[in-house]
Amino acid sequence: MLIAGNWKMYKTLTETVALIDDLLLEIPQDNVTVDIVICPSFTALKTATDKLSNTILRVGAQNMHWKKEGAFTGEISAGMLRDIYCRYVILGHSERRQHFGETNEIVNKKAHAAIQASLRPIVCVGETLDEREHKDFKKIIHTQVIESLAGLGPEQLAEVAVAYEPVWAIGTGKVASPAQAQEIHHLIREVLREMHPGSKKGHKGGARASSVAEKIRILYGGSVKPANAKEILQQPDIDGVLVGGASLDPRAFGEIVKAAL
Ligand code: 13P
Repeated sequence: MLIAGNWKMYKTLTETVALIDDLLLEIPQDNVTVDIVICPSFTALKTATDKLSNTILRVGAQNMHWKKEGAFTGEISAGMLRDIYCRYVILGHSERRQHFGETNEIVNKKAHAAIQASLRPIVCVGETLDEREHKDFKKIIHTQVIESLAGLGPEQLAEVAVAYEPVWAIGTGKVASPAQAQEIHHLIREVLREMHPGSKKGHKGGARASSVAEKIRILYGGSVKPANAKEILQQPDIDGVLVGGASLDPRAFGEIVKAAL
């Protein structure tokens, strides 16, 4: 299981320090069998990794550029994130796709760069309300997964978490029903199997490849709260959650973590 908090563009450095202190009081530190990640703003990342270095919490960024370095004013590379001990990075969040023009192709370049720098990408996919109601939204998700993860081999894919975040459920209080989420998670796992079918015929690397789709963590995101976390996490193809609003409330995030234990 992976429980991740996306803090979005909230919290100053001082507020981050206070929130981390509160979180450490809410999150059990012993016998924790799940991975827990917080993703604060860029300006707070170094302080977060310093503060959490001897804890079970890990730190992720919310975005990065795909180039190693260069004249890309305002951008931050995977190597820079790794240098301050970030372990994860959220890629292709719907807010980045919607407001900053990120395409599957861009997300794919970032996913390759992240893995090359030993960062674990959390790659987001999901349909808008219009797509769910009027289009073949399953095909859209299929394409998002295939194109965002194109060219990654089985070992690389095993480092990725995919987050299914239906856009209509983000920050709206409208959570997908556990059955609706499970249906799409199952579909995403099928797509991953399709990408790395492994081999019933036993060709080289086949056994490893076939286990990738089972190994990869598929997270649900969109109005996850303590009240709905347990039921969501009980679905067979849901391996964690990516939490927005509730991750800014230490007690709520702590409850969500406990729901996964
Ligand atoms: P909310 O939990 O606030 O709906 O946000 C979900 C999200 O976008 C996490 O990345």
